[in-house]
Amino acid sequence: MRSLAGAPVTGADFFNRDAELRLLDAKVRGGTHILLAGQRRMGKTSVAEELGRRLQDDG
Ligand SMILES: Nc1ncnc2c1ncn2[C@@H]1O[C@H](COP(=O)(O)OP(=O)(O)OP(=O)(O)O)[C@@H](O)[C@H]1O
Ligand SMILES: [Mg+2]
Repeated sequence: MRSLAGAPVTGADFFNRDAELRLLDAKVRGGTHILLAGQRRMGKTSVAEELGRRLQDDG
């Protein structure tokens, strides 16, 4: 049995978060460890995975 409530979003389903992505990008490139904390379903996993894709695309 699984309890599902909407998977993390990617691509066209992912919107906004530009300010957060800029901030997180700068922190990661600076070598800082980051903890994303927030209420459930706020988009923590989505933004972390989007950041990973963007960094990977950028080498
Ligand atoms: N950037 C976004 N654009 C569009 N929808 C979003 C975005 N971020 C989150 N959502 C919506 O919120 C839902 C939950 O997103 P996500 O799983 O990334 O959140 P979470 O904070 O990691 O959740 P959990 O607390 O369960 O781990 C998605 O299924 C989607 O419907
Ligand atoms: Mg999550």
